Amino acid sequence: MSTTDTLGTLGTTTAQARSAELEKLIQKEPGRFRVLTGDRPTGRLHLGHYFGTLHNRVRLQDLGVETLVLVPDYQVLTDRDIAENLKEYVEELVLDYLAIGIDPERSTIFAHSAVPALNQLLLPFLSLVSVAELNRNPTVKDEIAHSRQAAVSGLMLTYPVHQAADILFCKANVVPVGQDQLPHLEITRTVARRFNDRYGNGGSVFPQPEALLSAAPLLLGTDGTKMSKSRGNAISLSADADETARLIRGAKTDAERHITYDPANRPEVSSLVLLTALCEDGDPRQVAEEIGAGGAAALKRRVTEAVNGHFAPIRARRAAYAQDRRLVRDVLRTGNERAGALADATLKEVRAAMHCDY
Ligand code: TRP
Repeated sequence: MSTTDTLGTLGTTTAQARSAELEKLIQKEPGRFRVLTGDRPTGRLHLGHYFGTLHNRVRLQDLGVETLVLVPDYQVLTDRDIAENLKEYVEELVLDYLAIGIDPERSTIFAHSAVPALNQLLLPFLSLVSVAELNRNPTVKDEIAHSRQAAVSGLMLTYPVHQAADILFCKANVVPVGQDQLPHLEITRTVARRFNDRYGNGGSVFPQPEALLSAAPLLLGTDGTKMSKSRGNAISLSADADETARLIRGAKTDAERHITYDPANRPEVSSLVLLTALCEDGDPRQVAEEIGAGGAAALKRRVTEAVNGHFAPIRARRAAYAQDRRLVRDVLRTGNERAGALADATLKEVRAAMHCDY
């Protein structure tokens, strides 16, 4: 088990309980909440993203919660391949957002490199965090371990503080994330608290945002480890029916014939069962029972059908939007402007609090 897994699991119990409470508060008064989330433009979004956070974002938006969706494009600069084709990566990500139902009329989709005042917040925020704290952030350690870089850049080490700027520039109070992001969110809360203590003059400039974990457990990739773009084990939202079938055919299972839902002892099989249940809006135990003696072959047939059925309308919508790149650029431009106005206001307030409003 990696450091992230261990910490993630421990932190998750509390975060999960708090998320359930938050959920109730949001249902009652959606107008009190401002949500910010984002995904790095590192490639197509996949089913792990979808069931982990994406569908939750759309649900919050549809509940009437103000939603900002960030494309943290500066956070992929360390990857040469992506940096060389950044525009395409960003646009593909926006297409994924539009396909799943993020509505640019109601939600703000923007790229953080296009919001100067947001990035300027990074400097005072960096003064509030020690190098030791950055060095021991488990998510950063994990990212470094999986990066293909020979040396760790300063940018990579400061990701969590940059993320604090991403969240605090608009004073978001809820951040729907996967459990791997909990350490980053903790740094955001620390930055907010320390800023308020040092410069708040008895009041508070920033809220301490809370993580909203969705109820869906972690989906594994086709090789039985965490589904992740960089591990090549993901089924992307935009994959077509044939590619989906091929990926699932190649998915790892185990030697036991009878299908059961037992995530602790049979992670690979259970993840496929879970994926089926999520797509069918059913119960994983029930799904496993139905397949039972049919074994891995029947399980793979069922999960393929479930995924392709569930994602057909999303994939159709994506293909339609992909025909009109101008629309994608307009969505981003409008979002960047809206985010820019919010960031300008916050930076002004921050500079005043720090007594540098000359
Ligand atoms: N660190 C996130 C990831 O690895 C991306 C991200 C950057 C983010 N800024 C954010 C997520 C702000 C939520 C809020 O995918």
